[in-house]
Amino acid sequence: MTRIASERALIAQADALAQTYLEGIDQRPPYPDAAALAGLGAFAEDLPAQGRDAEETLRLLDIYGSPATTASNGPRYFGFVIGAALPSAAAAERLMLAWDQCASSFDNSPVAATVEKIAAGWLLDILDLPRESAVGFGTSATACTLSALSAARRSLLARAGWDFDRDGLIGAPEIKVVISETVHITVKKALRLLGFGMARLIVAPVDAQGRIDPDRLPPLDDRTILCLQAGEVNTGEFDPFVPLIAAARKAGAWVHVDGAFGLWARASSRHALTSGVEEADSWTTDGHKWLNTPYDGAVTICRDADALAQAMNADAVYATSARDAQKNLTLEFSRRARGIPIWAALRTLGREGVAALVDQHCDQASWLADQLRAGGLEVLNRVVLNQVLVRCGSDAETARVRETVLATGAGWFGNTVWQGRPAFRLSLSSWRTAREDVARLAEELLKAARA
Ligand SMILES: Cc1ncc(COP(=O)(O)O)c(C=O)c1O
Repeated sequence: MTRIASERALIAQADALAQTYLEGIDQRPPYPDAAALAGLGAFAEDLPAQGRDAEETLRLLDIYGSPATTASNGPRYFGFVIGAALPSAAAAERLMLAWDQCASSFDNSPVAATVEKIAAGWLLDILDLPRESAVGFGTSATACTLSALSAARRSLLARAGWDFDRDGLIGAPEIKVVISETVHITVKKALRLLGFGMARLIVAPVDAQGRIDPDRLPPLDDRTILCLQAGEVNTGEFDPFVPLIAAARKAGAWVHVDGAFGLWARASSRHALTSGVEEADSWTTDGHKWLNTPYDGAVTICRDADALAQAMNADAVYATSARDAQKNLTLEFSRRARGIPIWAALRTLGREGVAALVDQHCDQASWLADQLRAGGLEVLNRVVLNQVLVRCGSDAETARVRETVLATGAGWFGNTVWQGRPAFRLSLSSWRTAREDVARLAEELLKAARA
């Protein structure tokens, strides 16, 4: 076989296997069974001295790998806030794999730089955030929060007359950080990596739904970063942005918003939940959660475009580029054009399609919550978004109901702890989830609770 023919045969085989996998996604158990997990033993090989056949390698991956996937790309995965992959975004990703672009700057990939720039503008438009903002397409909300918070600290230090790039942190004025009591662990991780000691973080108390209580907001000043949330991971709730950001503005603090999934409410009929969030300084959100793009696609948005561009600058004598080159807005130097699947999702859904996707899940969540409440289960949150937080009569009962429902295959969902006691979280975020899937989940939950 010629080189071209054998490459074509291999890629065609991969495409065929992917197609078969997707055709069976509705029937696939949300979590692999014991036999599938045991099959993973097939990968326990020594590194071969001579390379093995590529088709046989692909078959190994499919035969033992495909059954051991969680069907998070399917309709009955209610864990975390995972989101499936829209065909349009997955297709764009496949073509990108063939291009294999190093999407660091226009010089390295004119197409990536152009399409990501368009996607950046569309994101600011659909999320209705300041149009002058810089948009960096990073790997995850975690990485994008790291970028945003490093820009925040560098800017606050510059305002205090300190040159962070030259002098680092030793002897620098202290930058305080105020976080919510229910801050997401990845925001803490970003802060930890940046050298903000966990014991020094100032915690803002929250109300019963997990929102910062503006009346108990710790004092802020012009050397404070205030971290807010659009979409608390358990309740899906939003901090009250209007009073909190007004207080931060008055004090000269920097406001960062973790909107990993919740910021998308802004593009839906639920946009009022995010009122005032546009007044913040920086935001992070994911494509791979609620926009249903493939992993890993996320964004840092920073109102002061220079603040992000300077903090993330990676120009070298052999590779200088524009201020808005993605290598100067993200952590990566060599990178995948992760803005392209986001562009494809936005282009194929359009404004109305994005709103419909978000509204579909919010409607499903509130319908599910109503069913569960009517059947005597305790729904702990107000269910304003796509999260339903549930507890049964006792902690043991909560665990039993979850295990029982997981065993039926009606869905997979995870545990959590809410206000000191176990609960479980049901998250609606896959474009494939239909009303029947949610009805089956409700039925199994109620049956298990009655048993
Ligand atoms: C509220 C919130 N913030 C941040 C993250 C982290 O996002 P990522 O997994 O993209 O780093 C998540 C979920 O993973 C989340 O739900």
